[in-house]
Amino acid sequence: MKFTSTLASLLTGASATIYYAGVAESGGEFGVWSATATKGTGLPGRFGIDYKFIDESTVATFVDSQKVNLFRVAFLLERMCPPATGLGATFNETHFDLYKQAIDYITVTKGAYAILDPHNYMRYNDPSSQPYSGSVIGNSSDPTAATTAQFGEFWGELAGRFKDNGKVIFGLMNEPHDMATSLVLANNQAAIDAIRAADAENLIIMPGNSWTGGHAWAEGTDPSSAIMQNFEDPLGNTAIDIHEYLDVDFSGSHQACVSDPATNLAEVTAWLKTNNLKAFITEFGGSNTTECATMLADMVNYMADNEEYIGWTAWAAGPFWGSASPCCSDSAQYGSLEPGSKAADGSDGLYTTVWQKVLLPLLPTTLAWEGTATVKHE
Ligand SMILES: *[C@@H]1O[C@H](CO)[C@@H](O)[C@H](O)[C@H]1NC(C)=O
Ligand SMILES: *[C@@H]1O[C@H](CO)[C@@H](O)[C@H](O)[C@H]1NC(C)=O
Ligand SMILES: *[C@@H]1O[C@H](CO)[C@@H](O)[C@H](O)[C@H]1NC(C)=O
Repeated sequence: MKFTSTLASLLTGASATIYYAGVAESGGEFGVWSATATKGTGLPGRFGIDYKFIDESTVATFVDSQKVNLFRVAFLLERMCPPATGLGATFNETHFDLYKQAIDYITVTKGAYAILDPHNYMRYNDPSSQPYSGSVIGNSSDPTAATTAQFGEFWGELAGRFKDNGKVIFGLMNEPHDMATSLVLANNQAAIDAIRAADAENLIIMPGNSWTGGHAWAEGTDPSSAIMQNFEDPLGNTAIDIHEYLDVDFSGSHQACVSDPATNLAEVTAWLKTNNLKAFITEFGGSNTTECATMLADMVNYMADNEEYIGWTAWAAGPFWGSASPCCSDSAQYGSLEPGSKAADGSDGLYTTVWQKVLLPLLPTTLAWEGTATVKHE
């Protein structure tokens, strides 16, 4: 695999570079799931108890000691825009201020880049059984669904609040799925239009359908590859947001890594090349097995070798993971990428076994520290 991708970049004369790399900060979306989910469970939730965006001291460790320059920070749309007032330009200002503190810490205090991540699967109004609950945004057959226009209003407002900070990257939506690809595109376009209308020049990253899975980009009867290139950004500063896990069903919920990343990303990489687009892989991960170590290294090397990829964030760090992590295991708990994380049995967590051992040694030395995030690096 390494040979193939290296050969491919030699043949095309590509000079590939990763400019942004780090971790997904998961935690802002926590606190709404429950086995007996009722609508609205966990809303608005208690900051610091049910959910939290980052731990400043661990972000400092990543930036100061490890030279990580990118954090993707999850939040819930239903907390930013409470259901009582609906999706749009009316925010819960208390919640917004808490989120902005986290983003400002990363970007202003530490000088790194941050991806805003509405972790909502293109759904709004009931996160109690994510990723399946809630009305699909823009579903005109569902009278309780937020509209595509409301999604645009939301992004226009959020963009206006961060437009003077070029280190903030707008991740339009986490993992749309089980909806028409044309509606994913329409919602993405409404957001892009509203962001540019707000005079924000920030880098945008937009998802495809099917959980924005790289392996699935050209699959099925309604693939992202058929139409997702038809978005328009007058500034040309939009990249594609891809997720790719290494386990059997690409969900990141099994211990064993069996899905070779270079093989599974080949089609989406070709599509990116054809359409002259760049991409970030903002979720990928594996557990602590030796197969996962090999495949995770293959994945990071694949991105480094292919010029279509300019950034990545590994899943996941965050203040509330640790031994409570549902990530990457069938039954046991392996911990997270958060510094200091331990597994449930008290042994080293994924921070030690995956981040420090496998990913950190491959952190690119080409990362950007100055200026507005852009797809147009010279
Ligand atoms: C707004 O957010 C704060 C902080 O999380 C919370 O205490 C408050 O209840 C929220 N208000 C609404 C209407 O959701
Ligand atoms: C849209 O709403 C209708 C009516 O509630 C529902 O039957 C349909 O499954 C929804 N479509 C999607 C993609 O969720
Ligand atoms: C993976 O983590 C689990 C939980 O801590 C541990 O029991 C197991 O020995 C680890 N495996 C390897 C290969 O490190």
